[in-house]
Amino acid sequence: MTEDKRRFLDPADGREEDEPSLRPLSLQEFVGQEKLKEKLSIFIRAARRRNEALDHCLFYGPPGLGKTTLASIIAKEMGGQLRVTTGPALEKTGDLAAILSNLEPYDVLFIDEIHRLPTTVEEILYPGMEDFSLHIIVGKGPLANNICLSLPRFTLVGATTRLGLLSSPLRTRFGIVEQLSPYSEEELGSIVARGARVLGISVGEDAALEIAARSRGTPRIALRLLRRVRDVAEVRALASINRALASAALDMLGLDPGGLDEWDRRILKVIVELFDGGPVGLSTLGAALNEEAQTIEDIYEPYLIQQGFIERTPRGRKATRRAWEYLGKTPPEEMQIQWQLQFSEEE
Ligand SMILES: Nc1ncnc2c1ncn2[C@@H]1O[C@H](COP(=O)(O)OP(=O)(O)O)[C@@H](O)[C@H]1O
Ligand SMILES: [Mg+2]
Repeated sequence: MTEDKRRFLDPADGREEDEPSLRPLSLQEFVGQEKLKEKLSIFIRAARRRNEALDHCLFYGPPGLGKTTLASIIAKEMGGQLRVTTGPALEKTGDLAAILSNLEPYDVLFIDEIHRLPTTVEEILYPGMEDFSLHIIVGKGPLANNICLSLPRFTLVGATTRLGLLSSPLRTRFGIVEQLSPYSEEELGSIVARGARVLGISVGEDAALEIAARSRGTPRIALRLLRRVRDVAEVRALASINRALASAALDMLGLDPGGLDEWDRRILKVIVELFDGGPVGLSTLGAALNEEAQTIEDIYEPYLIQQGFIERTPRGRKATRRAWEYLGKTPPEEMQIQWQLQFSEEE
């Protein structure tokens, strides 16, 4: 259910993605999210002045927008180590207790997919977050011993793609809760330019913007496309990447000028061709596509909704006029009449 489901695009992604050199190391290098950055830099400065750990932070938003990167920047700016784990990896209370009891002052504990933390483990976290203490029970039955350890001041950074799945006791224990939103093409253009500098490739400004335009508002996708374009340039023994090359390489990857890929088109086709434009329930759609409903909802659908290709209705997903037009199909007559009515109402 992670982004590497997009394997048709990039089977090696999981490995490449963690190329550490590409991660910005400071808030200054972190492109975009200006409001968030401004707040965060104030909170970091204030915490440092008071010699306190930064308040616990929760970042939410679609994959690839910079949540993990922000956690590592916070650790660096606070002068602590970054400890990384994920909700599903913390199966037992002991797993979390072991991590917590090894923290040093100002460390950042990053829990990715924090909405998938088991409830029992979550309960260990509450006193940890609130009073920097760890309550554990050692032994069983009448000999069981309740032990309370005090923990150093640390910062918990949680990341989730699904804020709604977080329990409210957990959510309310974060002092800083911030949403990451999609990036503009200009911002993605500078992320691509920066990535090119780090990777040592020469990319023209317009080529960077061409890549940016097809990156669905997402830095991770922008950097991945940059690598694919680089592959093409290398194979063709070209020293630098211009717009024509970027555009041809991206076409070859099956990305249209708006960044829609094979999967997006498959989803639209299924809704339009198999279900007459919908509405079709998410699980039915998943079955028709042989894909988990969850993956469609988390990975593919947000961009299609944002771009106005599908809409969510109480009865399921529905193709919009734009989707029909995109596929070059004529919608049924009653749908056209309905759109016309809507249009005249809007006027
Ligand atoms: N604002 C940004 N500026 C520059 N690079 C970014 C930015 N946000 C994300 N990236 C890059 O995009 C990739 C994905 O970011 P990541 O933090 O792993 O996203 P998330 O944790 O939200 O899925 C990383 O390689 C990261 O360096
Ligand atoms: Mg991440």
